[in-house]
Amino acid sequence: MRKLIAGNWKMNGAQAWTVKPAGFDRIYAAQDRNHIDILICPPFPFIRELFTSAGGRNIFVGGQNCHANENGAHTGEVSAEMLADCGASFVIVGHSERRAAGETDTEVQNKAKAANRAGIVPIICVGETLDQREAGHAESVVENQISGSVPDGLTEYVIAYEPVWAIGTGKVASVDDIKGMHAHIRKICGATVRILYGGSVKPANAAEILATPNVDGALIGGASLDMADLAAIAKAAG
Ligand code: PGA
Repeated sequence: MRKLIAGNWKMNGAQAWTVKPAGFDRIYAAQDRNHIDILICPPFPFIRELFTSAGGRNIFVGGQNCHANENGAHTGEVSAEMLADCGASFVIVGHSERRAAGETDTEVQNKAKAANRAGIVPIICVGETLDQREAGHAESVVENQISGSVPDGLTEYVIAYEPVWAIGTGKVASVDDIKGMHAHIRKICGATVRILYGGSVKPANAAEILATPNVDGALIGGASLDMADLAAIAKAAG
């Protein structure tokens, strides 16, 4: 399956960062990476400009969240249609940092439906906490999140498996754990859904993670802020 290397800038960046796609392209030129998809998800205010500066460089731009509705009295929110209008092709929904702030599976599912309605691909995040893993519940937690968060009948979506304890901590799940969980997700979601791994993916561990069966790419936080690191991870995708 075609691999997807997705950067999640979280609440980092500035207008000046819109030169970054050009920097990425200098390190890993578009014509050398026709076999993979590259995506950068910046904060909302930079999506349009980043889309423009990524133009012709074969780099997709996406959002980090969206509202379930198309428009209306929802102060401070952004709809999937607005993201699409600004050039986004993907949107991350249900990131653990948002789930930790109270976002439920049902809300995530409604956001995934909104993305589909707007013609963009939702990247639906799932992952267990350390307590859940240590209690032996990792697979059932992820299975429940998928059944609650993936809309019935949706065919075009991406799953990002991100063990919560591995995000921003420098701790990475073992290859065996990743292999087991991704095989489990494959069984639930089927052959055509891309399954990304996320959580402290860096140039040093990317090749091993990306070579693991059923790992169809990575969702990268910290290391995606540096184009040399993001390009090194993308090159490790083979
Ligand atoms: P990290 O973040 O790569 O900094 O661990 C991953 C994510 O939260 O998507």
